Amino acid sequence: MLIRLVYASRSTGMLSPMDVKDIVRSSQRNNAELAVTGALMLSNGIFLQCLEGDHLVVNTLYHRTLPDPRHREPAVLSYAEVEQRLCGAWSMGLVTTTEAHRPIFLKYSAQAEFDPYQMRPRALELLFADMVEHARPITA
Ligand SMILES: Cc1cc2nc3c(=O)[nH]c(=O)nc-3n(C[C@H](O)[C@H](O)[C@H](O)COP(=O)(O)O)c2cc1C
Repeated sequence: MLIRLVYASRSTGMLSPMDVKDIVRSSQRNNAELAVTGALMLSNGIFLQCLEGDHLVVNTLYHRTLPDPRHREPAVLSYAEVEQRLCGAWSMGLVTTTEAHRPIFLKYSAQAEFDPYQMRPRALELLFADMVEHARPITA
């Protein structure tokens, strides 16, 4: 069964661009083998990740990331069966967010600050659909 899981977590300390690159590289390697696709955003000290694939595989993968010391306070914000993938082209796309993305966040949030913990599943889905257009691959 194809599902999409979206969760948020807070980055611990100040992660360098190399740290984020490292997360994305291992995600791309592992997820590709598992037929999992997804995208990762980091903004305002909050990770927002979308994982798509078989329900059991995605569950296992999510639980595997939980003990990672680079993040804390994980919360599943959406978990649903889907007909198609949003991030089909990405084993893990990194969406680097800038001020230019503010209008996109605002479009789907009641607050001006990026706070996905407060967002509803439908808004998260629409946000990812918009943001995936800005995702870029990280090459080793
Ligand atoms: C916010 C966040 C998202 C992550 N997403 C993934 C992921 O989608 N896939 C993955 O394999 N590892 C992910 N990781 C990394 C895992 O926690 C772990 O470091 C990695 O799976 C280890 O892989 P390796 O044993 O191949 O080095 C993520 C880590 C963080 C902090």
